[in-house]
Amino acid sequence: MNTLPSATDIVQEDLEFICRELEKEFKLLEGKKLLLIGGAGFLGYYLVQSILHLNTKLPAGSAVELTVYDNFIRGVPDWLTALEGDATLTLVKHDITHPLPEGMGAFDYIIHAASIASPTFYRKYPIETMDANVNGLRLILDYCMQMKDAGTPVSGLLYYSTSEIYGDPSPENIPTPESYRGNVSCTGPRACYDESKRYGETLCVNFAQQHGVPVRIARPFNNYGPGLKITDKRVLPDFARDVLAGRDIIMLSDGKPTRTFCYIADAIVGYFKILLVGRDGESYNIGIEQPEISMAELADRVVALSKELFGYTGQVVKQDSSDSAYLVDNPNRRCPVIDKARDELGYDPKIGPDEGLRRALIWYNDNSEAEEA
Ligand SMILES: NC(=O)c1ccc[n+]([C@@H]2O[C@H](COP(=O)([O-])OP(=O)(O)OC[C@H]3O[C@@H](n4cnc5c(N)ncnc54)[C@H](O)[C@@H]3O)[C@@H](O)[C@H]2O)c1
Repeated sequence: MNTLPSATDIVQEDLEFICRELEKEFKLLEGKKLLLIGGAGFLGYYLVQSILHLNTKLPAGSAVELTVYDNFIRGVPDWLTALEGDATLTLVKHDITHPLPEGMGAFDYIIHAASIASPTFYRKYPIETMDANVNGLRLILDYCMQMKDAGTPVSGLLYYSTSEIYGDPSPENIPTPESYRGNVSCTGPRACYDESKRYGETLCVNFAQQHGVPVRIARPFNNYGPGLKITDKRVLPDFARDVLAGRDIIMLSDGKPTRTFCYIADAIVGYFKILLVGRDGESYNIGIEQPEISMAELADRVVALSKELFGYTGQVVKQDSSDSAYLVDNPNRRCPVIDKARDELGYDPKIGPDEGLRRALIWYNDNSEAEEA
């Protein structure tokens, strides 16, 4: 147990991996201004830190100037506060559903990651979630058009959609390619998220086609790993929380739904590739193709790894959620086809669930406290 790497070691290795995998694409960012909207969340954790890590390798004049907007609806994370002194990072409290700040200036690249991704929390804030995915996006698309008219065009805008736009795919559409149209409820408890992302994509496609806005779309499939706070109420943090509290792992489904879990460092490489070299108006699945594992199998893997890493002695027990809508419209299987990102962007995820879960659990061991928000 004493020989475990620390969370800091894990994060540093991942940042190094991300910069190495993106050596060619990151050249496009040198000396450029990048705006990250919604940068205080899970994906923001590595999106922000990978840019600051890249900056440590660049001469001062070539550093990326990173600005983060976030409304901090789920709090200001400690990791972001700790980065506040960095000369290449500007933090702005801004709600993307409000008019953009006066005199915000020109940006070369923009990432719109402002939304609420955890089902528990988007169901708590459904209207805020829809507004960020649709109205917030619209403000950014309009801004891109204004910048074009002003002669300072944005070179790339990344919009975060989701694999949830496919809803609960029929068996013949699994694994799921980008061309699948989806099987989605427009009124169910998850619709605020799924449908607003779908409309967000429609906005992006039409602004790309009609106005030449260089907007590209990512469809993430179940990312996990460092930065996903233990109180987030997504499945892995819930399991990690049980393990680190020394109690049994509580399984809130029958354990049968399956997912392909994509480790965050692999996913971040995919997202930057879409931003920097993706095609305008196009969507890309970002995930891993296999293994597709059930929630029961995930729990068993977490138990086995935690036993090895921390001497954990708990087991998996099934329980009904106190939230009656917890499993309503929950997809049975989710598994991507990633040929488009592979062929067009050279996306090639490398970190399988054994290594990824190990890294995530070590990170949770050092990050077992987080605010309940
Ligand atoms: N993590 C995944 O596996 C995954 C999967 C599918 C889609 N996505 C999408 O990727 C993006 C980022 O995901 P994440 O996991 O980091 O989400 P997250 O919920 O952890 O973080 C989102 C961030 O956006 C901020 N935000 C929310 N509304 C805002 C607003 N109106 N103005 C400004 N900031 C606002 C929140 O404060 C938070 O810091 C989201 O659009 C999400 O829907 C993520």
